[in-house]
Amino acid sequence: MANAKVTKAIFPVAGLGTRFLPATKAIPKETLTLVDRPLIQYAVDEALASGIEQLIFVTSRGKSNLEDYFDRSPELERTLSKAGKKDLLRIVHDVTLDSGAVTYVRQNQALGLGHAISCARHLIQDEPFAVILPDDVISASTPCLKQMIDVYNRTGGSVIAAMEVPPALASSYGILDVAGVAGRVAEVRGIVEKPAADKAPSNLAVIGRYILDPSIFDHLDGLPPSAGGEIQLTDGIAAMIAAGQGVHAYRFSGDRFDCGSKAGFLQATVSFALARSELREEFGSYLNSMVALQNAAQ
Ligand code: UTP
Repeated sequence: MANAKVTKAIFPVAGLGTRFLPATKAIPKETLTLVDRPLIQYAVDEALASGIEQLIFVTSRGKSNLEDYFDRSPELERTLSKAGKKDLLRIVHDVTLDSGAVTYVRQNQALGLGHAISCARHLIQDEPFAVILPDDVISASTPCLKQMIDVYNRTGGSVIAAMEVPPALASSYGILDVAGVAGRVAEVRGIVEKPAADKAPSNLAVIGRYILDPSIFDHLDGLPPSAGGEIQLTDGIAAMIAAGQGVHAYRFSGDRFDCGSKAGFLQATVSFALARSELREEFGSYLNSMVALQNAAQ
């Protein structure tokens, strides 16, 4: 029997974004701008290009401009239309999501990623679903989630995106214990949250893309807070593995930027700016001159 289709994606956007304070006091981290598009736009584009039909945002207080961003903007549209600015009007229309395709659900306390996912349980019910963390931005010729759905169509169960990291960075990630590696896919035997370098079971780190079997909700239900005092999705997945449910890791093809950290965000800004034809020359020559200045000062 074919595996059930993945048509829904959850975007958890209810976190406090403390690493970007003071900006995130009033601006959701997920709407910080990479070149000219908010982070959440890259996540939504990836989902839509991967065949997702229903977008579920788990939001919180202070995130209303994220909701407005995906809505119609009648005054702006009227002004652009009157001025004959068709290209800008198209840009504005293109980011508007159909009312029926989008749902917002509130997480009224930032209790952790696992808790945020649980808040959407009633919208997912009994289907497999995707989770995209918008602060992990991935540049890939085939969208990362699409690659994962292709794997899921073969394996069923749950699929977690993974990336190789050097041992010194293991303590910043959830690290996977894997067996039965076949190319980019491996069976997951366990997950260790932020292990010391010499305790890491592999060099495969979990990153912010998941396809999850709906049984995850039972495993998240009643989970106590753990790392950082938060209810962790990783703990729910570990419980799912312990219960014998199939979980696969997929080493995706593409470049991932950790836009939840300042250094990662700046690297993404440079990379995405250089990928834009209208910016490449001017911005590239500015970067070259900055590097030359740095080298001269050393
Ligand atoms: P992070 O832990 O990276 O985000 O969560 P954060 O807590 O907002 O940021 P810092 O660490 O304080 O700087 C990854 C994703 O999960 C969401 C966040 O909004 C982010 O998109 N999240 C996290 C929730 O939706 N709810 C939570 O309780 C925690």
